[in-house]
Amino acid sequence: MVREDSLALTLLVENNPKIESFYMLNLSTWLGLEIISKKKAEFAIGLLQSEAANIDLIIVRSKIEKEDSAKILIEYLAKRKLTIPVIEVGPGKEVPGAFAHIPNSLLLKLLIQNAAKALKITAKDMADKVVPEYFPIPILYFKVLRRSVCPVYSQDIEDPAVFIPRFAKLKDFTEAEVNALVQEGITHLYVEKLHRLDFVNNVTNELMTELEALDLSADEQLTAADRSLELLTQKLLSIGITEETVKLAKKNMDTLKRTVKTNPKLAKLLERLLSNKTSYIYRHTQILAYVGSHIVRNIDWGSPDQEEKIMFIAFFHDLALADDTQARVASALDLRKANFSPEVKILVEKHAQLAAEYVTKFPHAPMGADQIIRQHHGTLNGIGFSEHWGNNVSPMSVVFIVAEEFTRIILKNEERPLQRHDLLRELKETFPTSRFQKVIELLESVTF
Ligand SMILES: [Fe+2]
Ligand SMILES: [Fe+2]
Repeated sequence: MVREDSLALTLLVENNPKIESFYMLNLSTWLGLEIISKKKAEFAIGLLQSEAANIDLIIVRSKIEKEDSAKILIEYLAKRKLTIPVIEVGPGKEVPGAFAHIPNSLLLKLLIQNAAKALKITAKDMADKVVPEYFPIPILYFKVLRRSVCPVYSQDIEDPAVFIPRFAKLKDFTEAEVNALVQEGITHLYVEKLHRLDFVNNVTNELMTELEALDLSADEQLTAADRSLELLTQKLLSIGITEETVKLAKKNMDTLKRTVKTNPKLAKLLERLLSNKTSYIYRHTQILAYVGSHIVRNIDWGSPDQEEKIMFIAFFHDLALADDTQARVASALDLRKANFSPEVKILVEKHAQLAAEYVTKFPHAPMGADQIIRQHHGTLNGIGFSEHWGNNVSPMSVVFIVAEEFTRIILKNEERPLQRHDLLRELKETFPTSRFQKVIELLESVTF
């Protein structure tokens, strides 16, 4: 039961400081929870001994180092006949008695939904909740950021109704500046209520990007990679190619390559991506990188350098697109039918040109990658969509175009199992010339 007079108190048992950090921020922002955190079940029990009556929910990692944390806590509660709901997160077998188990601990939406359910917070409660005009964010979160996606304020000490602008939107600030505010005694900074979810999403993406692959399951790695790609797009659109975005792009590309290598079969990879609920953009990029690199590996002119190049192109070509509805546009007709604002429409129209511009500024980009990216929707200048590809495009462009169309067809039918026959027939109809047909035949042998 949620007490009327105070926020629901949640005990979080998690030893990864980054996960702990974005769990706290998300749970407090989305559900208004107050959270106490402990690094192990052993320490959590110490708290429960005196405070159990005040705790409404426990969120615990299945296993923390050698400790079976979820199991220990659930057994502890059962023995004392305490009925606090327990949400178990992280890979492993579900412990009987848990309220819910979320094996991919980075699926925050699922965590938030389950926490709401456990606390009997309804969608209506959330909608009715009064959110202050200026939403407080603990100042510690600003230490992981170099800039904020929205303006940031502090509350005037003399007059709490006054909010002083501190950091402008997307303007760099330093850790020293944040520390100076801490020295002034400031514990919270504020963002406007309308911006709070964007802000929280951005901090979460930053923290997820920093997670070590070693600490994560294969599924969690995919989720982290998906969020990291979103972060990269946001940064490219706001600050362009800088040392920071180059580093982030390289990190993202490495993850993409690792996933290609560790998934020998396309069907398996696809199944993984779908069950993982990764974004359409991420699935599109990952499958395209997979298919493209497999074709190049098996084509007569293929070489490790060319493989590297097709991966690079697959990674960059749609990087200017900010969300799934934008990424699903594949023709002039799609664009006309889409319900976009004028700015988004221009972005989608120009995305090939924009991505090509990033690539020309990217250090050591493979030769000619920018041109293939610029022309990936069939227009020479990278603006708009054309259904016609010149017959004089380079061999690499042919591979890319086929791989992209293949990916589009797979994802169009993503709810159904792969129908290789229909798929290849559709491709052959789309690209009747022999240069394309050769590549399509190769696809047959390498991806199934
Ligand atoms: Fe694409
Ligand atoms: Fe595209």
